Amino acid sequence: MKDLTDIPTAKVVMDKPDTRNRLDHMAQGVIHKGLPRPDGPLKVAGVATYAHEDQPEGMLTGVLVRAPVSSGKMTGLNAEEIRAMDGVRGVFHGKTFLRNPAQGTANEAPIQPDGEIFYIGQPMALVVADSFEQARHAAKTVKLQIERSDAVTDLSKAEAEEQEDQYSAQGDLDGAMKDAAFTVDQTYRTPGHTSNAMEPHAAIAQWDGKKLTVRASCQMLKYNVNELADSLDLEPSQVHLLTPFTGGGFGAKLGISHEAVAAGHAAMELGAPVAVVLSRQQVAEATMRRSETVQQIRLAADAEGRLTGIGHTATVSNLPDEPFAEPVTQATPFIYRGENREVGMKVKRINSMAAGSVRAPGEAVGLTALEIAMDELARASGVDPVELRKINVPEVDPSDGRDFSSNTLVEALDDGARAFGWADRETGRTDGDWLIGYGMASATRVNMIGESHARITLEDGKVLVETDMTDVGTGTYAILTQIAAEMLGVDPAHVTVDLGNSDHPKAAGSGGSWGASSSGSSVFVACENLRSRIAEEMGVEETDLTLQDGIARAANTQRELASFGTLAVEGVIDAGKTGEDVRQATFGSFFAEVGVNRVSGEVRVRRMHGSFAAGRILNEMTARSQCLGGMTFGIGMALTEELMFDPRDGHLVNNDMAEYHVPVNLDVPQLTVNFLEERDPWANPMQAKGIGELGICGAGASIVNAIYDACGVRVRDLPATMDKLLSGLPDL
Ligand code: MOS
Repeated sequence: MKDLTDIPTAKVVMDKPDTRNRLDHMAQGVIHKGLPRPDGPLKVAGVATYAHEDQPEGMLTGVLVRAPVSSGKMTGLNAEEIRAMDGVRGVFHGKTFLRNPAQGTANEAPIQPDGEIFYIGQPMALVVADSFEQARHAAKTVKLQIERSDAVTDLSKAEAEEQEDQYSAQGDLDGAMKDAAFTVDQTYRTPGHTSNAMEPHAAIAQWDGKKLTVRASCQMLKYNVNELADSLDLEPSQVHLLTPFTGGGFGAKLGISHEAVAAGHAAMELGAPVAVVLSRQQVAEATMRRSETVQQIRLAADAEGRLTGIGHTATVSNLPDEPFAEPVTQATPFIYRGENREVGMKVKRINSMAAGSVRAPGEAVGLTALEIAMDELARASGVDPVELRKINVPEVDPSDGRDFSSNTLVEALDDGARAFGWADRETGRTDGDWLIGYGMASATRVNMIGESHARITLEDGKVLVETDMTDVGTGTYAILTQIAAEMLGVDPAHVTVDLGNSDHPKAAGSGGSWGASSSGSSVFVACENLRSRIAEEMGVEETDLTLQDGIARAANTQRELASFGTLAVEGVIDAGKTGEDVRQATFGSFFAEVGVNRVSGEVRVRRMHGSFAAGRILNEMTARSQCLGGMTFGIGMALTEELMFDPRDGHLVNNDMAEYHVPVNLDVPQLTVNFLEERDPWANPMQAKGIGELGICGAGASIVNAIYDACGVRVRDLPATMDKLLSGLPDL
């Protein structure tokens, strides 16, 4: 057993830019390359153990019982009758149950309403039985006794509360609108979205009398441990979370959710392992949705199309007392110039499942609306849409005068236009019954870092990387393998990355596009630390060391890495002043060609291109896949994805993947992605920025703008379904 209590730890706080650019000067040559996922074979062979797949002996199954009304108080249930049913081991309800999952990075229990009901579908009780079938049958037999109360289920009747702390303004926007040569003043609407991860939320909990071990599908173990412990009234040291694989999260697994807490509670009460898996419908109705948004956007421009003012006010909704409000205006303060500015947020309180982070919360829908408005300004001013954006890229952050760590929007627009053939597009083209149109949009997403720790052990020339970071399908196993292999000069095949275990050093987790830069940097720092140990033993300077193919070389000396015995070190990265001193963001552009059917109003995306810059690209294969996924979600946002609620009682009508349509293969045409070479020394020592969510931020706007180009119908209420196009189509 190696002693891990006192290993050398190196910590880097990003208080100043790291201009050394070390990764470009390492010898192994594996960084940036499209290394296939080391976990890929396990996944395609079906042997990667997701949350519900590593089942202990004697495991019982729990099924959640949910509220049939949108407001009230549960006063009891027919527990006697249920307990007498075949195979039933227990019926649980009461104060441990969550109202909704924790928000991302909450670090404490979400609201536990002890029987109070806030929305239809809220988990109220758990029935545990020997088999799933017995549990499900018993759960269906449960009769909740409920005292109903009034609910707000019609959003149009809910009051909007101003969020004063989220209001900011510079100059005089009203004046700018009055004096402008061209203006846009429109309201845009986006509907609720659901994450729809392939793996539903699932947990298996085991209690040994002192410690609770939970296999669950999570994004951020460091926070999830504390949220789970707080929910169950345990010490964090009594909770052990395991998430070796997460079958997608998209925000819905940022915080601890119903199934883990309910399974934990039942396992402690029954003294047996308990599994709880949410059905597809339960995921849709009881985890997280993206709030619908109503966004008023005002643009004022001079005769050349230069912006003099931007206003962006958004209204979103959430449950009462839920702290999260989708940061819809997040990109508006910095993406375009204009001296006169105003951003604001309002929140409505509604009896509907919690609103939280879903796929790039903020920019995904906020930038999409802004980029439709920019297209309207291009039409009004007669300036080419690409040119209009380029002339409005600011020198510094126009809302506070800070420098950008880097701003590659102009290059991304030029690169995308070139790759797509924007200048050569033929307007007014038709193809049979299809009216062809072209549209484009800018992309941007804020860049962040979160405190992360990693441990590296060199043993017999092989490298072990341990951190509680997760891989939510994004490629974490691959990039951490590459960083360690590059820094330590070993073949990636000699690196083992062990993730998703809360006993490991704590990482920021997967979310907000910060996973790679945070956990990757902790591995980088640990590797520098290990290089120093090696240099010390060889009596040379660390910077004079070349590590390649398992050999450490310096001027007149060399040694095999295998000869160093066992060396263990830790690395820590944390956010510092560079997060405040400069504006950090990633940038890109989207270009789309669509066909609108002149008879039916059906829209097909025919091709789509994205060009992106996010500092160093760590693995161009997994990064590309992230962008392809983001653009695919952009197609969904533009054309099909929409949560539909019945305003009479607030219930979700389209609660499965048949009725809530995520784009499938036939909806997705040839997508192409370019990366721009970039290094951002302000971001972290790797000079890499987060790319996870960039591909969705603005993507839908390129399609909506292409629809306008094709048929002259301006859609301001997403998605652009046929009914919204039909009446505006040109006569046959
Ligand atoms: Mo992401 S929606 O921050 O998991």
